[in-house]
Amino acid sequence: MLLESRSNILQEQGGLKRRSFLGGVIYTLTSLIGAAIAASVGSYVLGAPRQREETEWADAGNISGLRAGIPQQITFEQSRMDAWKARNEKSSAWIILNNQGSITAFSPLCTHLGCAYRWEAERRLFACPCHGSLFSATGDVIAGPAPRPLDRYTVKLEGSRLWLGPFRKSPGV
Ligand code: FES
Repeated sequence: MLLESRSNILQEQGGLKRRSFLGGVIYTLTSLIGAAIAASVGSYVLGAPRQREETEWADAGNISGLRAGIPQQITFEQSRMDAWKARNEKSSAWIILNNQGSITAFSPLCTHLGCAYRWEAERRLFACPCHGSLFSATGDVIAGPAPRPLDRYTVKLEGSRLWLGPFRKSPGV
């Protein structure tokens, strides 16, 4: 009788050890799966913008015909890294030759919600048709709701050849 109850106690203890071991394995596996999912979601959310960066300067063409103070819209091919794959895509910019001979290249998208704006020669300003934002020839906001000046490309000139580099977001919201 005494031996039988002692054997029952030992069996129960063995069962408890097995259950706690299995519980530990399940807890560890669940934690690992959770960590793997969190890491992949985090790298997608945080890493995505960095993976879509311009990889090099884009040839925006010969600008010898550009007249000072008169913006002109140009299109060019830009090479981008998308994850591990490089691909070319068409981009555009509004470029303006300043009086000192330097070039400014604006992003073609309004800084409010990204509509394409146009140059209005009579009023000498850029006008966005979507919600009425107005920008000066230097890209400053004349009328909202645009929260900040026009964004710009980095530029470099090689003779009369214009090269557009990384995109710079203007300061503001
Ligand atoms: S997108 Fe240009 S004013 Fe709203």
